[in-house]
Amino acid sequence: GIANACTGAEGYGYCKATADAASEILGIPADSVLVASTGVIGMQIPIDRIVNGVKAMAPKLDGSLEAGTEAAKAIMTTDTVKKEVAVQIEIGGKTVTVGGMCKGSGMIHPNMCTMLGFVTTDAAISKEMLQKARDGKYAVGQFNINNLEWTKSILQTAQELQSPVILGVSEGAGKYMCGYKTIVGMVEGMLEELDITVPVALHLDHGSFEGAKACINAGFSSIMFDGSSLPIDENVQKTTELVNTCNILGLSLEAEVGSIGGEEDGVIGAGECADPDECKKVADLGVTMLAAGIGNIHGKYPENWAGLSFETLDAIQAKTGDMPLVLHGGTGIPADMIKKAISLGVAKINVNTECQLAFQEATRKYIEAGKDLEGKGFDPRKLLAPGAEAIKATVKEKMELFGSDPKGLYMLDQELAARTYAAPSLTL
Ligand code: 13P
Repeated sequence: GIANACTGAEGYGYCKATADAASEILGIPADSVLVASTGVIGMQIPIDRIVNGVKAMAPKLDGSLEAGTEAAKAIMTTDTVKKEVAVQIEIGGKTVTVGGMCKGSGMIHPNMCTMLGFVTTDAAISKEMLQKARDGKYAVGQFNINNLEWTKSILQTAQELQSPVILGVSEGAGKYMCGYKTIVGMVEGMLEELDITVPVALHLDHGSFEGAKACINAGFSSIMFDGSSLPIDENVQKTTELVNTCNILGLSLEAEVGSIGGEEDGVIGAGECADPDECKKVADLGVTMLAAGIGNIHGKYPENWAGLSFETLDAIQAKTGDMPLVLHGGTGIPADMIKKAISLGVAKINVNTECQLAFQEATRKYIEAGKDLEGKGFDPRKLLAPGAEAIKATVKEKMELFGSDPKGLYMLDQELAARTYAAPSLTL
């Protein structure tokens, strides 16, 4: 007969150890141990690598190759509960349970999420989100967060509209919110407690090289490395290093060429238009998406703003093919320019200042109307409520303009539904 063991393994190397341990504990030969790896704890390993890992060690397990592979798949596709993942398998007339606790150290494990249909802020989804937007000719909004209210308003609006969303965190906002780990914890908690099922990416905005590494370690699903102020060769070298790291971990990576004008959280840019050849050079490194300066500016646009340079955007798109392009400085760009930018390959649009202005205006109104002086109007939950509602209205307006609103359900397409809910029942 075949016994079974299960690893909550960080790598498939543990499978062999598990087989040996099970063999010793159960007093059976190691080659009759069926090993299933959920590949969960702490690392983000694509399912193919786990299955291949099981296959790779199969010669050592002889006859259990297929069973091991199937069991790994079964664990991945079971629709039991989010974190406790187990499947019942019949082996030689006996029913045994394969599986165990599935608890990632950062986000819920991406493979689990994908296979189970739980959609959360994970790497695979962050990447896929951009490609789907590019193909579908809409853009996913990145909305920068500053605190719990901001995050909650954005997530609730995304859920209400069934839209994918990117939560942007600048390094300054990261420090303000007590560091990246605090943010990961807050977002992870909110996704669960608010039952957010649309695709969400947690993204570092205008990261330095050090900031990028810190966010990777903290569990962000998406990173921007802004090397636009560096000489192009240094930008290429540092971006390449991060492409390698992000590829191993399956994270999405945004690079920048040609700085965005204005100032955001201490990051100051001259606002020159990017050189399309340099854009191609960086796009070819294997980044997920590319931000390119096309006359866009962080913050409010001045009266005499010349508008976006569609000539530059057109030339960049011609050189970079189907690379999803990113438009920063989304605040105050007229709707017709947004739509034209999307038609020329923009698949992600960043909005920060507009939410801040909406929050400020609503809070000012509340205080000027003397509402804080009425009853318990001083309660922060009341005082901050109009601002939080104003953020929701701004985010909704943008999602509708960007065309991302009906797309949130894309994860639950036919193919995924089949993969998700058809947990195989194994009889050996
Ligand atoms: P705005 O503040 O102009 O909306 O720009 C946001 C942004 O580009 C974040 O990177």
